[in-house]
Amino acid sequence: MAIALAAFLLIPLFSLGAVFVLRAWRLDKKAPAQRTPRTRPYPLLGHLPQFLANRHRVLDWLTEVLALLPTCTLVFRRPGGVRGVITANPTNLEHIMRASFDNYPKGPRFAALLHDFLGRGIFNADGEAWRAQRKAASYEFNTRSLRLFVARSVHSELHGRFLPLLRRAAGSGSQLNLQDTLERYAFDNICRVAFDHDPRQLPDGDDSAGPEVESTATASSSFADAFRDAANLSAGRFQYAVPGFWMIKKALNLGSERRLRESIAMVHGFADRIIRSRREEMSMGCEKHDLLSRFMANQGESYTETALRDVVISFLLAGRETTSSALTWFFWLLSSRPDVERRIRDEVAAVRAAERSAITAEPGSISTS
Ligand code: HEM
Repeated sequence: MAIALAAFLLIPLFSLGAVFVLRAWRLDKKAPAQRTPRTRPYPLLGHLPQFLANRHRVLDWLTEVLALLPTCTLVFRRPGGVRGVITANPTNLEHIMRASFDNYPKGPRFAALLHDFLGRGIFNADGEAWRAQRKAASYEFNTRSLRLFVARSVHSELHGRFLPLLRRAAGSGSQLNLQDTLERYAFDNICRVAFDHDPRQLPDGDDSAGPEVESTATASSSFADAFRDAANLSAGRFQYAVPGFWMIKKALNLGSERRLRESIAMVHGFADRIIRSRREEMSMGCEKHDLLSRFMANQGESYTETALRDVVISFLLAGRETTSSALTWFFWLLSSRPDVERRIRDEVAAVRAAERSAITAEPGSISTS
């Protein structure tokens, strides 16, 4: 009886869903100029059909939808009463991120999806756990020694690898995928700053080397690959048509969940080894300035090894695609604005000239700002 009732309810629902998904998919296949994404939810299914048709391009789709809405805000509905608010409205952002911050925790659903990878790191923490990490991070990022360490790491990656690579590409006239190169550049930087590890995602610069700029992958890419897979597969858990389906796959160790388990094990194992060897080095009096060492020195007693690992992984995630996406967009926009490029060049030249004259005026003093 129960099966018959379930079939009676589910068959029309699935048929309805299939029709809406097909319609949403066909709409999506139209040329962008013809396409007007539907912003209103469907009865019973909410925004699920549009979501399924667009989940391979979620950011583009949401950008198109938000641009159509007068409040730049979408209340995203899925079957079973699952709702979320997606907004690009500055007033709403101000309200959520600042004015009423405590009313908007990430919440248990978000935490459950990301816990395997991020544990209780800052990106997956609420309440006191979040506050404590936030306070410690703000303090550490404002210390002079960490700032100097960041400046030195970035300088060496820029001059030792990134610029030589661009020079080789320019010299040989070969094409370079700037986004990929900037991702590698950002990952090398953030790994050095977070735990003084060099994943060597960009090759060492040797201007006399050949023009093989496309082969930027280097020997120690397994950690970087595992990290990228763990981040992407964790994000994929948000994209299931049936929200908790990943838990079944996880319990059965199937498909993407099996790959996620393997990549997380690799990332965690790697981080754990670094934390253990850092403890030994520090107990022998060795002083280091990366973020992990600073956290260990200042909060070492109150942080377990797992907590330290969670801190480091959240920072790696924070500094990875954010920086590279921002730089990629920056150069893309700049390429269409020669007037802005000229003004930036002029400003850089003026600052350099001023610094040179300051150094000449005060022999022996070098500006570190
Ligand atoms: C252009 C580059 C970056 C952009 C656009 C960016 C953007 C953001 C945004 C929008 C948030 C808020 C996220 C949220 O609360 O849901 C955030 C949080 C955060 N970012 Fe960045 N970020 C960038 C680079 C970095 C770097 C390089 C680091 C450090 C290594 C970093 C560390 C953090 C941390 C720790 C948080 C969490 C803060 C918190 O929860 O209070 N970010 N970032």
